Amino acid sequence: MRYTVTAALIYANGPIHIGHLAGCYVPADIYVRYLRAKGAEVAFVSGTDEHGVPITIRAKKEGITPQEVVDKYYTQIKQSFVDLGISFDVYSRTSLPIHHETSQEFFKTIYDKDGFIEEVSEQYYDEVAQQFLADRYIVGTCPVCANPNAYGDQCERCGTALSPMELKEPHSTLSGSKPVLRSTKNWFLPLDKMQPQIAEYVNSHTEWKTNVAGQCQSWLKDGLRPRAMTRDLDWGIKVPLPDTDGKVLYVWFEAPIGYISATKDWLMQKNGNDAGWETWWKAKDTKLVHFIGKDNIVFHCIIFPATLMAEGEGFILPDNVPANEFMNLEGDKISTSRNWAVWLHEYLQELPGKQDVLRYVLTANAPETKDSEFTWKDFQTRNNSELVAIYGNFVNRAMVLTHKYCDGKVPARGELTDFDKETLTTLADFPAKIGEAIENYRFREGLSFLMDFARLGNKYLAETQPWQVIKTDAERVNTIMNIALQIAASLAIVSEPFLPFTAAKLCQQLGMQKSITNHQSLSHQWQDAGNADLLPTGAAIGEAFLLFEKMEDAVIEKQIQKLHDAKKMNELATKSVPELKPTVQFDDFSKLDLRIGTILEAERVPKSDKLLKFLVDDGFEKRTILSGIAKHFTPEEMIGRQVTFIANLAPRKIMGNESNGMILMAEDKDGSLSLLQPHKEVWAGAPIS
Ligand code: 2FM
Ligand code: ZN
Repeated sequence: MRYTVTAALIYANGPIHIGHLAGCYVPADIYVRYLRAKGAEVAFVSGTDEHGVPITIRAKKEGITPQEVVDKYYTQIKQSFVDLGISFDVYSRTSLPIHHETSQEFFKTIYDKDGFIEEVSEQYYDEVAQQFLADRYIVGTCPVCANPNAYGDQCERCGTALSPMELKEPHSTLSGSKPVLRSTKNWFLPLDKMQPQIAEYVNSHTEWKTNVAGQCQSWLKDGLRPRAMTRDLDWGIKVPLPDTDGKVLYVWFEAPIGYISATKDWLMQKNGNDAGWETWWKAKDTKLVHFIGKDNIVFHCIIFPATLMAEGEGFILPDNVPANEFMNLEGDKISTSRNWAVWLHEYLQELPGKQDVLRYVLTANAPETKDSEFTWKDFQTRNNSELVAIYGNFVNRAMVLTHKYCDGKVPARGELTDFDKETLTTLADFPAKIGEAIENYRFREGLSFLMDFARLGNKYLAETQPWQVIKTDAERVNTIMNIALQIAASLAIVSEPFLPFTAAKLCQQLGMQKSITNHQSLSHQWQDAGNADLLPTGAAIGEAFLLFEKMEDAVIEKQIQKLHDAKKMNELATKSVPELKPTVQFDDFSKLDLRIGTILEAERVPKSDKLLKFLVDDGFEKRTILSGIAKHFTPEEMIGRQVTFIANLAPRKIMGNESNGMILMAEDKDGSLSLLQPHKEVWAGAPIS
């Protein structure tokens, strides 16, 4: 069997975070590594989506051009995937000429077959910016929840999908002006007319995941509507028709075609030409599988298949689209704009050598059937109690004991006990169980079987106790260590899809091969796993070293703190000054007696962590004023300072003390307080007017 496996072409408008990894890239990589280990022919293609409004929005935010945005993030994203061991055969980009050509040809083919309908419709136009507005560039009040900042395609507060026309009081985010409706011609894919064939295709895939099938059925039930495949924008791939200046291909039309262009790009890089690309896209014995997050389901299960059908040149359709739900982080939705995320490039830098720990935790918590959660505490627990205590512990004991009792060589097996035989049977069964879970896209389950496999090794050593037996029966220890090593060897093979760095280290320790540096270098195939004679008797094993290290509290706490700091910084950056209060007349203002006073004494108010009590010289007498600023100032630093206060505020009793006035403060963006002091010392009681 031949497989074309794709992983979503992420927008090149920001770095990769753990949500992307858990949703799409880690499961795709597990699947592909497994297929390769089985000996299947695989093309694993992905890349960056470099068009569409998300790119132009980012460019505006960063004050750089869209081209600069995509160049910057393409390079960063590509590298961080390499560093995490995501084993793409090609990591391409939709700005390449090959993609422009491929998607324009696609459009032309459908156009020439009258596959589109031309329609003139009214779209919002910004007369100041002189351009049509993409949905994301229009903001207004949500008709459902009255959120004043809803976007033209969605209200992020209540989650309702919207069209720009539904927004109340729409305005353009480009110029702030009220947009006007203007007619424009676009080309639509008649999904309504194609509904029967799309429904037939979707319904033929009864094996699709429930979350995927559910979304498809809901679209079909609502009735598909024609969808514009061109847009009035200037960033994107030009529409290949005369008189279409200012129009580009809809990003969701061309981005999935990017998988095809990426395949051509791969072949060109490999062979100097793209001959044979059709094998991956048209051969009936090729299985096409798309790994994506749940927000991309409709595009891969309905719109892209419809595009392939309309093109009509014998493309295979997606066989499966094992989309995941979303992963949350520490109890909150992951959000790029709110900076609530664990960024892959930062993780790799701050926790070097811990790629497999991340892959493990993301798979163990994969949002396969419902949204899931990443917490740093769970990350630590899984590392310490699972990877270190189970997997690492077993391998280390097997290695160390072999060096100690068997001269660092694979000893021969002697006569087997019933328990040995039972263990070897269980060993033989594990690879198929793990493989079946992977083939059915149940990666969490596959990983839990993998850990059960490591547990088998631990259990075997715990029950056979070679450290006791050695005192009386060295022959028996040879048998025990042989079996333990054979378990470890099979464990290495079946770990490779999930934990490729660990599998490489384990192979190295067991002397299975010199080293594994990339995904193609496994010396053994999946089929070898489970074999009780994988390691030949007498073969030397390598040096023992720890596969995993305990993660200390300080490391985790630092990450949690970092997350909160980043969110706070972001909140500060986006905070705006409070609205002005309603106008007051001068007479009202002049009723307030504002003065400068000098603080003579200051002390904390017992039983209060907020209040400070001051004795203030107001020019007439010494008055007591209480102020809730103890969290911002110490009594000592206040003594001798001149402050601004309201002198004629009616006295108030606060925690048993009478306060005669109020000291004024300015509140900064971050909530810190600042005293209002005269710029040179003035006489106590100086009036303010
Ligand atoms: O959600 C995203 O980041 C999209 N750029 C994914 C596109 S996947 C495919 F269609 F290319
Ligand atoms: Zn809303």
